Amino acid sequence: MSAKKITIAIDGFSSTGKSTLAKEIAKALNYIYVDTGAMYRAVTLYAMQNKYVTGDNFNTKALINDLNAIKLSFKFNEVLGFAEMYLNNINVEKEIRTIEVSKLVSKVSAVSEVRKKLVKEQQEMGKDKGIVMDGRDIGTVVFPEAELKLFMTASADRRAIRRYKELLDRGDDVNYEEILQNVQERDRLDSTRKDSPLTKAVDAIEFDNSDMGLKEQYERIMSLVNDRIKQ
Ligand code: DC
Repeated sequence: MSAKKITIAIDGFSSTGKSTLAKEIAKALNYIYVDTGAMYRAVTLYAMQNKYVTGDNFNTKALINDLNAIKLSFKFNEVLGFAEMYLNNINVEKEIRTIEVSKLVSKVSAVSEVRKKLVKEQQEMGKDKGIVMDGRDIGTVVFPEAELKLFMTASADRRAIRRYKELLDRGDDVNYEEILQNVQERDRLDSTRKDSPLTKAVDAIEFDNSDMGLKEQYERIMSLVNDRIKQ
């Protein structure tokens, strides 16, 4: 008999290492991994390409009108070992990670119509369970029935340092202060928006990983996963 499949929801602040952990867990369990932040980033990139959103203006109506024409998909990259984001069949994995997208994504992800479309697609991806999904509203809105909910936090400067190193490793020309500001500003916007603000689900287990290594987090989480599978 094959093992029971569960739904694992990982929420938390930006750059808390959610996706690194989620990927490892999904790989160990042979589950699907979905980075929902990549979906909000791809819609933001679309809005930027069409000049619907800039630092000063946001033509929400134009974006809402186009929502049916925005096709998002993930395709597994065998070499990299994870699924990359495609926007209307074009690989946008690199473009969606830039600081320009990071600066505008909280505006776009506050639009209820955008959230409605993406939440529906996310629920469809997880309908058969066997999924690890990370984001801001997975345990509260997308899968309120998830068997395991985790909520990741870490101090803002620890998170900014991680993000800074990640971008430097990719060869981007980045400024630490700008990244720290972006991390803090996104925390504020994501936690105070009206629709589905970032908040810890009452039944989520909180992990402050400011001083916790990846191996320790992974082991703790896998033990929780095994408990839930046995239940
Ligand atoms: O996980 P990330 O930092 O790549 O996410 C980018 C932004 O997308 C984040 O600042 C808020 C938004 N987001 C969201 O509103 N809901 C989600 N489920 C995932 C991300």
